[in-house]
Amino acid sequence: MTDKKFAPGIERTFAMVKPDGVQRGLIGEIIARLEKRGLKVVALKMVKPSIEHIDEHYPKDDKWIARLGNKGFTVFDEQGISRKEAMGTEDEFEAGKQVRGWLVDYLVSAPVVPMVIEGVQAIEMVRKIVGSTLPSKADIGTIRGDFSTDSPLAANLTKRPIRNLVHCSETQEEAEHEIAHWFSADEVYEFERSDHAAMF
Ligand code: TYD
Repeated sequence: MTDKKFAPGIERTFAMVKPDGVQRGLIGEIIARLEKRGLKVVALKMVKPSIEHIDEHYPKDDKWIARLGNKGFTVFDEQGISRKEAMGTEDEFEAGKQVRGWLVDYLVSAPVVPMVIEGVQAIEMVRKIVGSTLPSKADIGTIRGDFSTDSPLAANLTKRPIRNLVHCSETQEEAEHEIAHWFSADEVYEFERSDHAAMF
């Protein structure tokens, strides 16, 4: 979301420390990495969401679900593990539906820390800092790459979601939906960081 009140190129995105990040005591570390890059936390809370809330958080369209199934399949294909053996199906959509179900159940199992992050090209910046979806493939230096080695090999085979510590919006459309889904307008603050003038 580009807000006209801010400088050109400034966006807001949604990020959330997932249950594994909270339980491993990494809330501070994760926020620090975003703040150190020059991004601003403009909304923040801890909640234990309802199943309905999480179900509405993740997209439900067939394309997104099939993409989710396919991402896991890439790892099984690379490792020469049969898709059918790994997921009980060769169908991307059927596999994606299973992953989405595990994900929803996991995200309601414990508190999470949702937040809104603002800054220059914030959507892309936050995704870079967070790193690849599959921690086993995430670059060192990213949050997922530094704190996890989880993979569909370890996760999907045991019917649980990958524990990759953080969620963050992928597109502007997702960011707008997720910010409005988790925060009311008066929970998102406007303020200037004291280092703003030095950074820009
Ligand atoms: P996705 O939207 O592809 O990734 P990202 O979180 O990087 O935007 O997937 C959503 C979540 O689904 C992902 O964070 C972890 C989980 N997931 C699994 O549990 N198993 C899988 O095989 C895949 C691909 C994702």
